Amino acid sequence: MIPTLSIDTDRLQRWLDELAQFSEAAPPAVTRVLFSDEDLAARAWVKRRFEEEGLTVREDAVGNIFGRWQPATETGSTPAVATGSHIDAIPNAGRYDGTVGVLGALEAFSALRRAGFRPVRPLELIVFTAEEPTRFGLGCLGSRLLAGAITPDRAAALTDADGRSLDDWRAKAGLAQDLANVRLHAGHYAAFVELHIEQGPLLERQHTPIGIVSAIAGPSSYRLRLIGEGGHAGAVLMPDRHDAGLAAAEIALAVERAAKSSGSPDTVGTTGVFRQLPNAINSIPCDVTLEIDVRDTSLDTRTAAWAQVEAAIAEICARRGVRWTLDTISANPPATCAADLVETVSRACAALNLPSQRMVSRAYHDTLFMAQICPTTMIFIPCRGGVSHRPDEYSSPEQIAAGVRVLAHTLAQAASQ
Ligand code: HGY
Ligand code: MN
Ligand code: MN
Repeated sequence: MIPTLSIDTDRLQRWLDELAQFSEAAPPAVTRVLFSDEDLAARAWVKRRFEEEGLTVREDAVGNIFGRWQPATETGSTPAVATGSHIDAIPNAGRYDGTVGVLGALEAFSALRRAGFRPVRPLELIVFTAEEPTRFGLGCLGSRLLAGAITPDRAAALTDADGRSLDDWRAKAGLAQDLANVRLHAGHYAAFVELHIEQGPLLERQHTPIGIVSAIAGPSSYRLRLIGEGGHAGAVLMPDRHDAGLAAAEIALAVERAAKSSGSPDTVGTTGVFRQLPNAINSIPCDVTLEIDVRDTSLDTRTAAWAQVEAAIAEICARRGVRWTLDTISANPPATCAADLVETVSRACAALNLPSQRMVSRAYHDTLFMAQICPTTMIFIPCRGGVSHRPDEYSSPEQIAAGVRVLAHTLAQAASQ
């Protein structure tokens, strides 16, 4: 039986606001990129909160942080029930993406403990390293390594835009252990449930306080380099140009066209990085790098859409006399969440008289990779206007508390057997 829980919404909001202060950007924006000084300070702050709440804290070789609630009666061999999310933030983001799933889970643990709940299974709260792709162009680095979705060698070879490697950044963070020790295998966890803001408009539009994620779209990302001839913006006549910038512009439109014409509403395509050199007003762009993000809940549809983009790249570059090289940064299958865990969340919502609806997550999350080693689902709460990855990202204390309450009930249910 799960006791009636009181959620300390004031303290939780204070935590969210305090954590938001660790930022490379001025408030209300939050920027917190992997292992920056602000990220390291935020990590230390989170570890102190975990310790204050009585959790046993450890950090692995890539900086995933684990806060464990170990039952006195448990010998250490029982697979834990896990939850968690991330605290890194892309440039000029908001204060709720990821942090609600970390600090909200900490409050869920604390509310359960205050109510006298004692788990049979261990409960573990995880802060995953680099859910955002900002540092290395690859998202979910910590959960990929943990789930074995990337090899330690491939991870160690990652470098940022300045050529600094993951090992350089790990050394700065004081993480010397071997990346091979990050891996946790199927069976290590009994379940994983992540609380997160929806980052879309559906729940708010439908006045539904809780979303229960049944599937997560599969993300793929690519780096395309285009080499033209450049030259003087005044002297080179139009028929003689091989303008890499215009080839890139046509390709960005081809990405949009492929997503819109896929036949599925779940196909999305974005050219989010567009760096061109020499980036001078009177010089024809000669060297352009695009980073392209294509996702879908269906692997076949995403594959077909990307094939259309690749065909467009070849045609546009041949016609414009531009050379190109294409690298796949990552391409991961969609995830299906565990039906019984989805049902547990649904029953928790019913017990709490909270309307809920099943939905797809179009954003990727660490849950996408945790699904490779254990049963998973996610609990979504509404965010104002569906806005995220912007300083005006917002969920109310009441919306957050409802998510925390459902998470606490779900974790208690899963950790009681
Ligand atoms: O891009 C994503 O889906 C996630 O917010 N990193
Ligand atoms: Mn995000
Ligand atoms: Mn997130």
